[in-house]
Amino acid sequence: MKTLTVIGGRELSGEVRIRGSKNAALPILFSSLLFSEPVEIENLPAITDVGAALALLSSLGVRVTETGRGRVLLDPSSARPDVCDPALSGALRGSLYLLGAASGRLGELSLPHPGGCNFGARPIDLHLDVLRAMGLTVTESGQGVSVKGRPKGALFHFPSVSVGATVNAILAAVLAEGRTVLTGAAREPHVLDLVAFLRSAGARIAVPSPGAVVIDGVPRLHGVTYRVCPDMIEAGTYLLFTMAAGGSVTLRSAAPEQLLPILPLFSGMGARIGVGVDSLSVARTGRLRPVRVETAPYPGFPTDLQPQLTALSCLADGESVISDPIFPTRFGYVSELKKAGATIEVANGRAVVSGGARLTGAKMTAPDLRAGAALTLAALTGEGESTIARYDRIERGSADYCDALRSLGASVRISDGGA
Ligand code: EPZ
Repeated sequence: MKTLTVIGGRELSGEVRIRGSKNAALPILFSSLLFSEPVEIENLPAITDVGAALALLSSLGVRVTETGRGRVLLDPSSARPDVCDPALSGALRGSLYLLGAASGRLGELSLPHPGGCNFGARPIDLHLDVLRAMGLTVTESGQGVSVKGRPKGALFHFPSVSVGATVNAILAAVLAEGRTVLTGAAREPHVLDLVAFLRSAGARIAVPSPGAVVIDGVPRLHGVTYRVCPDMIEAGTYLLFTMAAGGSVTLRSAAPEQLLPILPLFSGMGARIGVGVDSLSVARTGRLRPVRVETAPYPGFPTDLQPQLTALSCLADGESVISDPIFPTRFGYVSELKKAGATIEVANGRAVVSGGARLTGAKMTAPDLRAGAALTLAALTGEGESTIARYDRIERGSADYCDALRSLGASVRISDGGA
């Protein structure tokens, strides 16, 4: 297993290109099963989750051809409903999207239980409820979930916002008979990017008001070439890295409008932020102020930036409180931060951070992808050398991570071995 080694205490400066969004790429790739002709997807991030998704699709008979850096041609014409290889579908939570995508055109699929970051319960009841509401026969067993039948348009209200269940509902509705109306749906930029992709291929999808999605089924989709939107979480992560290490960084190929709802929170902590057309600049020279925030579905503060923000708040002058009602047990990384000198108390999905910490180098292990970014943030500011084992978990969702940090002036290297 790979280990990331960081020598802390260096400011960051320069530019980093924000790559395509992992959480837009996964639903877009799996939606290729809805097509009967080839589609080309560009700006795919070079991350292991994308590799896992492509392996899973080819195991279902989709012909996958790499046509350039971050670009693939998918030909689903010979795809077949099949039992997924558990080793493949268990690698990522996004494999759940096969349920909606397969029911749209293939008519059936048996899916072993999906994988995904392990920070607590990851129920799938909302996915199954909306697929059943569309007339599909959905069966759960110890081995996984199977879906059968032809989806029909339905009216469905999500009692709580779910990115994945919204994606599955849209995928099942695109080729369904009739109209599907979803309310209480997710509004994340990566969900709207899936909508934009499907509309470019002839799907009839409207978003008449925030949280509402109306889909009129069409007989088929036509082939397209589509560029995945920038990754909002990656951009937010580099923004928080810079706030922690100090210095001045410009994020290129970013979509600043995605982060607009949370930029005031960062400037309130002491960041100086400039918003360009497709760039974001961030600098921090002075002290950091504490923060009080609760995660919420978009446009609220994203749970995928909660670990990074909690790590940053260790450096602020005063007490911060960060709550995560979306994933209340997503604080497993705090015990790792404490090895670097952080003072954080976690209870009932809420972290109370004492602030004013002078973090020191420590031997840490990344519990999952975003927590790995939180430990990296701490290591960038800690005095001395830190190591972060299970770097493979960071690679699941962060492309060229080590290279990007090095290009910004950080002292980082990857070595094999370690836990
Ligand atoms: C997606 O996960 C993302 N993953 C997660 O990012 C992200 O943290 C999450 O959305 C929230 O934004 C991908 O896009 C591949 P949810 P998902 O369904 O779809 C509850 C990362 O690091 N819920 O929006 O699984 C659930 O427990 C990953 O990139 C149900 O109760 O999240 C949670 O409390 C980590 N029943 C809330 O809804 C369900 O059927 C939101 O979950 C589904 C979800």
